[in-house]
Amino acid sequence: MYMVEEYVNACKFQYRDALEVIEEFGKEISEMKGKCIDIGCGPGNVTKTLLLPKLAPEVQVVGADISKPMVEYARKKCSEEKRLSFICLNAETEDLPNELVEQFDNVFSFFCLHWCVNPWRTFNNIWRMLRPGGTALTMFLARNDGFDVYMSLYENPRYRPYMQDVDCFVPYYHRCKDQRSSLRRILEHTGFEVLHCSKRERSYIFQNEQSLINHQLAVNPFINRFPEELREEFLEDLTQGLLRRKILFRRDTDCDQRGYRILDVYDILVAHVRKPLEEACHEDR
Ligand SMILES: C[S@@+](CC[C@H](N)C(=O)[O-])C[C@H]1O[C@@H](n2cnc3c(N)ncnc32)[C@H](O)[C@@H]1O
Repeated sequence: MYMVEEYVNACKFQYRDALEVIEEFGKEISEMKGKCIDIGCGPGNVTKTLLLPKLAPEVQVVGADISKPMVEYARKKCSEEKRLSFICLNAETEDLPNELVEQFDNVFSFFCLHWCVNPWRTFNNIWRMLRPGGTALTMFLARNDGFDVYMSLYENPRYRPYMQDVDCFVPYYHRCKDQRSSLRRILEHTGFEVLHCSKRERSYIFQNEQSLINHQLAVNPFINRFPEELREEFLEDLTQGLLRRKILFRRDTDCDQRGYRILDVYDILVAHVRKPLEEACHEDR
């Protein structure tokens, strides 16, 4: 799915939004102790340059990601940082390794959990990884009209064979009517004490069409499945589908052939929760 180098070069709004949440919860983060895990750490730049400096010097952080290339890249880029280590982990695994159970005092996750098809299992895994009294701070996409473009491209019989699992890439929350209460219900059902749960509208301006395309090349799960002869056509239809749903601005200085900037508006969910010291009894855990 994610292309490592491409993602590193095109993840500006993810980095900016993670920075804002880390700043907002700066006091809580600075008071954390023990061992933390950053789920969906990707290339590790948020973990290393945003999270680590906010944490007390004795706190250790494990970066975890489902993608082996991401973990390898993060290991290489952060090799000099002795407080950081990286592992491969699927956040929604049905088989959480025993060595991860109750190992962490705090869980972080930025721009990852919307990829988890089963949010109940995912938050249950987070619960299980936490020690009693531990906290989780998560931020992820609630809605982005790019996901509607995926669904409409799936209707094209030429593209359909390469998009059979499109449902796995349209986040659960994108389909919910009230994303915030839906997330709150999942958190409470899991047994968490909800300290904060909000939905926020965010926006980002792509400076030209190419930077929108570069972002798609980094995060789109389908492009690389297409045979070469279809890839360009798919990318063009994807780009046009996205542009139809976004607001285009004329540029003053015409650095781009088509001469406009692109406003992307999307929603994120932010949740800060605590696993109580005394575990309540849940039948399905
Ligand atoms: C948009 S990147 C975010 C990277 C980083 N947290 C940041 O804020 O820049 C999402 C990351 O989540 C990872 N991911 C997707 N599904 C996952 C899962 N089920 N378990 C763990 N990681 C997952 C992807 O491989 C990718 O590296």
